[in-house]
Amino acid sequence: MTKLLIALPILAAAVISMAAAQEAKPDLSLLPEGPGRELVGAKCGTCHNIAIVAGQRRDRIAWEQSIEQMIGRGAEISDTEFEVIAAYLGKNFAP
Ligand code: HEC
Repeated sequence: MTKLLIALPILAAAVISMAAAQEAKPDLSLLPEGPGRELVGAKCGTCHNIAIVAGQRRDRIAWEQSIEQMIGRGAEISDTEFEVIAAYLGKNFAP
């Protein structure tokens, strides 16, 4: 019983910290203000660090191709979101 009493709080703490990590807001510090910022953070910062995105400079056409590639890799992006993300990246991360 003593062991269980010790183990339970540790387990509970582990579960709580895992939940907190999952709910963590995406890191927006590398993304300039503007419409689409949160969306890009949420959609493009899950599989890899957002720095992978923010470190690139592309025109809008090239960004559209990148987003299509990410959809091919499993990113879930609707047509409306595609437009917002392409406009945001094409404006803020232009060559
Ligand atoms: C379903 C997972 C997933 C999502 C969501 C995702 N990517 Fe990626 N992305 C990858 C993988 C896998 C790679 C290649 C491996 C790596 O570089 O980490 C990659 C690499 C990249 C690269 C570097 C390679 C290149 O094309 O130059 C860029 C830029 C990029 N992603 C942009 C984006 C953008 C923009 C979004 C949001 C629209 C996004 N990613 C969302 C999976 C994803």
